[in-house]
Amino acid sequence: MMGMIDRRLSVAPMMKWTDRHYRRMLRLCAPNALLYTEMVSADALRHGNAKRLLQFTQEEHPVALQIGGADPKVLAYATRLGFEAGYCEINLNVGCPSERVQHGRFGACLMTEPELIAQCLTAMRETCDVPVTVKCRLGLDGENRYEFLRRFIDTVMPSCDAFIVHARIAVLNGLSPKLNREIPPLDPARVYRLKCELPELCVVLNGGIVNLGQARKALERCDGIMIGREAYHNPWFLRELNRALFPSTPVMRDRHALLEAYLPYVESELATGTRLWAMVRHLLGLFNGLPGARRFRRHLSTAARVADADASTLTYAARMVSRELDNTYVRTPEAALS
Ligand SMILES: Cc1cc2nc3c(=O)[nH]c(=O)nc-3n(C[C@H](O)[C@H](O)[C@H](O)COP(=O)(O)O)c2cc1C
Repeated sequence: MMGMIDRRLSVAPMMKWTDRHYRRMLRLCAPNALLYTEMVSADALRHGNAKRLLQFTQEEHPVALQIGGADPKVLAYATRLGFEAGYCEINLNVGCPSERVQHGRFGACLMTEPELIAQCLTAMRETCDVPVTVKCRLGLDGENRYEFLRRFIDTVMPSCDAFIVHARIAVLNGLSPKLNREIPPLDPARVYRLKCELPELCVVLNGGIVNLGQARKALERCDGIMIGREAYHNPWFLRELNRALFPSTPVMRDRHALLEAYLPYVESELATGTRLWAMVRHLLGLFNGLPGARRFRRHLSTAARVADADASTLTYAARMVSRELDNTYVRTPEAALS
C-alpha cells in the first residue's frame, strides 16, 4: 500500500465523532476521501480491549488509524496492531493540546521534542508496511515562529511519509481543546511556505476549510486538504468536494439516496445490538439548509434515543424533507461560485 494513498481529500480524526458508524456514512458521501479514526492512545491499545478499539469494516476503506503516545516501544506495538487490523496508514498525533494528553506527555507538547518524534516514527515504521505520518500544529505558544516549525519538520522528515499540519499554534496553558481550535489564528501561508521550500515533502493542510473555493486554493499549494468540523456538521459538503475534485467518480444522487444506502448497515448493526442513536447521531446535519431539516433533526434527536428504536425512525424522519428539493442546496455562497 506504501505510496498509493491519495491524500488530496481527507477527513480529520475527531474524538467521539469519527467513529466507525460515522465513517461508514461518510464513505457514502465521499468515495475518494481518506478517513481517519478518532485518536486511540497507544497505552489503551496495549492494556485495553485492542480488538474493540480497532474495530472497523472493509467498506470504510481507506481508513488511517491515529494513535497517541511518546514511547517508541509502545507506539511500535500499537502500530503493529493497527497494521494487522488492516489500516492503510498509521498517524501519530502531535497536535492535541488537552491537559490529559499533556500529562501523558504526548500530543502537541511533543513538538518541542522532534528527535523523540523521529525515534518514535522510526520504531513505528519498522513494525509495519504502510505509511507512517504525523499530524501537528504550526507551533506552540512561545514557539510561534516559522523557524520552529521548519526545525521540527527537518528533524522528523526522514522518518515520516506525510505531514498534516493544522494551520494554527496550540496554546498549552489554559485554553481548552475546543478554544484551541478557535482562538489561535489560522495561518495557512506558513504551511504553503513549507511546501514551497520542501517540494518533495508531502504536506496536507488542515484547519478552517469550509467551502470549495478554499479547498481548490489550498490544493494548488499543497498535496492535500483535511476537513474536520465542516465534514461533521455538514456531511453533504464532502459529497460536493468529492464530486468537484474527483469528477470521474460517481457520487450519491441526493441525500435520500444516501440514507437508503446507509439503511441496510443500520439494520445489520441493530441486529447485533448497536443502538440506533449511535449511528443516526451522525446524520443530524445531513439536510442542513433544506426546508424540513429542523424537523428531521428534532425527530431523530428524540425518537432515535429511545432504547428499542428501530430503523423505521430514520425512514420516518427522512420523509420530513422533500425529495424534490434535495440536492438543490449549496451551503455557502463561495461554494456556489467556485
Ligand atoms: C470534536 C473534535 C475532536 C477532535 N479530536 C481530534 C483527535 O482525536 N486527534 C486530532 O489530531 N485532532 C482532533 N481534532 C482536531 C481536528 O482533527 C482538526 O485538526 C481541527 O478540527 C481543525 O480542522 P477544521 O477547522 O477543519 O475543523 C478534533 C476536533 C474536534 C472538533
